[in-house]
Amino acid sequence: MNTRCTLKNGYSFSRIINGGWQLSEGHALKSAIEKKDVLKAFHELVSRGFTAFDCADIYTGVEEFYGIFLKEHLAAGGKREDIQFHTKYVPDKSVLAELRPEDVREAVHRSLRKLGVEQVDMIQFHWWEYGIPGYLEALSELQKLKEQGKISQVSLTNFDTRRTREIVESGISISTMQAQYSLLDRRVENAMQACCREHDIALLCYGTLAGGFLTDRWLGQPDPADWDNRSLVKYRIIIDDFGGWEAYQELLQILKEMSVRYSCNIANISTAYILQKDAAGAAIIGTRSSRHIEDNEKTLMIELGQKDVEKIDSFLSRHPGPKGEPFELERAEDGPHIKVMLRNLNKKS
Ligand SMILES: NC(=O)c1ccc[n+]([C@@H]2O[C@H](COP(=O)([O-])OP(=O)(O)OC[C@H]3O[C@@H](n4cnc5c(N)ncnc54)[C@H](OP(=O)(O)O)[C@@H]3O)[C@@H](O)[C@H]2O)c1
Repeated sequence: MNTRCTLKNGYSFSRIINGGWQLSEGHALKSAIEKKDVLKAFHELVSRGFTAFDCADIYTGVEEFYGIFLKEHLAAGGKREDIQFHTKYVPDKSVLAELRPEDVREAVHRSLRKLGVEQVDMIQFHWWEYGIPGYLEALSELQKLKEQGKISQVSLTNFDTRRTREIVESGISISTMQAQYSLLDRRVENAMQACCREHDIALLCYGTLAGGFLTDRWLGQPDPADWDNRSLVKYRIIIDDFGGWEAYQELLQILKEMSVRYSCNIANISTAYILQKDAAGAAIIGTRSSRHIEDNEKTLMIELGQKDVEKIDSFLSRHPGPKGEPFELERAEDGPHIKVMLRNLNKKS
């Protein structure tokens, strides 16, 4: 498997990106010792080629934490360009109607300050409510900041195909689209993937492990009543959308059998399957320790054979999973997803 994703403009990073959501409030690290361990893991990740770090202005405390990591890296003789920071700009739902260009500039400068950089490698833009106009204006301000050298790549997250086309056709150059894409959730395949291919936009996929559900840990386990973090709450709803606990367990069985033949595990197969898909640039995997580094290295070595891909596809054809566009169900005011979503976090961070 090609281990790096290189965009049309030459910008390049590992096909596994270290995800930072699992370090934010709601999953937070409790002690200074835990934080020290994570920093140690980050240095190891960079030395093994996992140099891209995903975060967001709304992941409380994570941009600052990455800033501390960068300082340590520089103090040890490393270079700024050894590391890529992919953050997001997620204006609160409550401010969308009044969002001004100066708010966009202020948000980006806040991210730069927290990360301790002069240029952020990527800003992924999110918009909570299509019914409120303003996303094209905000993106055009991001484009200006790119021209001024404050941003290297302007990207999107959780947009649907119609708006992505509208944005691209308005003349804004989009590098990547961050969207949920996993064995349980293939909504990007409905139309987004074709749009990405057409416009040379790389898909940066989250949820490839469904917060940990697509790993050996859950094989043969009963459906538990309680969850220990927000990630699992989010993906348990996706399991229902997929067809429920039993269908999900059947999928794990197929993946397990395959993983034995490839001398790997369910997590490796789950991510490798997505990375083999059209337009899939990289998978973003939640990283809060060095526990999974070797495992994720292994994922990049796996090439699933045609017969195995067909075997998975044949099972998935009976379980099409959540319907509609990426993030459409999450936007539905009367659906279960919205209840676990925090749409006004920027005020806090
Ligand atoms: N744009 C968006 O709306 C959005 C939404 C969600 C996530 N994201 C991004 O995507 C990242 C990934 O989040 P996710 O929700 O997709 O989580 P995920 O990567 O599906 O799951 C992460 C969890 O899986 C476990 N794990 C990681 N590698 C493993 C391996 N090789 N084997 C077994 N278990 C492994 C880890 O658990 P332990 O640490 O407990 O071992 C980790 O906390 C986030 O950090 C964030 O940066 C973006």
